[in-house]
Amino acid sequence: MTPPSLLEESLSPVLQAVAREARTGLTATPKSLSPWLFYDAAGSHLFEQITQLPEYYLTRTERSIFTAHADDIIARAAAASPHPATLTLIELGAGSATKTGILLRAAVRQQGTVVYQPVDVSESALAAATENILTNIPGVTVRSQLADYTTQPLPEDRLPNTRTLALYIGSSIGNFAPADATQVLVNLRSQLQPGDQLLLGTDLAPSSHKSPADLLSAYDDAAGITAAFNLNLLTRLNRDLGANFRLANFRHQARWNPTHSRIEMHLESLARQTVVIPANSTGPTLTLHLVPGETIHTENSYKFTATAITHLLSPASFTPTHTWQDPQHRFAVTLATAI
Ligand code: TRP
Repeated sequence: MTPPSLLEESLSPVLQAVAREARTGLTATPKSLSPWLFYDAAGSHLFEQITQLPEYYLTRTERSIFTAHADDIIARAAAASPHPATLTLIELGAGSATKTGILLRAAVRQQGTVVYQPVDVSESALAAATENILTNIPGVTVRSQLADYTTQPLPEDRLPNTRTLALYIGSSIGNFAPADATQVLVNLRSQLQPGDQLLLGTDLAPSSHKSPADLLSAYDDAAGITAAFNLNLLTRLNRDLGANFRLANFRHQARWNPTHSRIEMHLESLARQTVVIPANSTGPTLTLHLVPGETIHTENSYKFTATAITHLLSPASFTPTHTWQDPQHRFAVTLATAI
């Protein structure tokens, strides 16, 4: 038998994390997989495509809010500080940072230069974001960090006498269960000073302005890109762990769960089937049995009311100071002060 030390060496830290995640999620009842697994190079690319889909209004709507209010957002963030301060922008889960450019331009207009510190788990996304910002927005210094912001500390090399504006946009907070969302914000707050700022983007719950059907189509588009994104998780497990998922035996499914005010994404098994993940340093061979209709739950996307946003922020010691919405009231961008 291969000594454990060798097996341990054979998996990179990322692959070990993938293996552990698969082992935990797929042996649970009901089965689930953690959404960070989506973002390999192919997944990050598919996600970019999702953000451009006609049904996926979130990105477009948040961008329109930034376009309309970037100067106001930056001015309020700077003014909310006890002393007039230069802002450093840190972004949690930066992705390709295309919307961020709008805020960075406003910061450069108001302060001449700005330091931008994107944090992301995707190396390819960070490289693209850095390249995009550096070539298109003079006056920005980029210091990127490859990290999982939910577990790893934010960059500490902030300039003296600058105030941090933490960007947490794209309704990414909505991808955490309420208790975990609070934990993410508490962690963030613990790394900020009083007077630092948070800009939080949240998708809004169904209301007189939007129906659950609008929400569902945003997560189940006609072109099948969201389906490909969801199924790519299985491709990743096949590649990274040598699993033998047959993609034709699974179907993408989006559900609206009114009790939890969330969209759920699932991978539904279309057959009675067995899937094998070979032994690795995290444990022995894993044999999974799935029945028709059984699902692997892969993602939640919580939708918020104005009250829910305040309740999300206050346990983490953030006080909302201003909210911007699009004219159709589909999306909210909230500025909050660390108290
Ligand atoms: N946070 C965004 C949302 O919930 C983006 C996102 C994360 C997403 N995971 C996703 C979009 C999966 C579509 C499918 O909408």
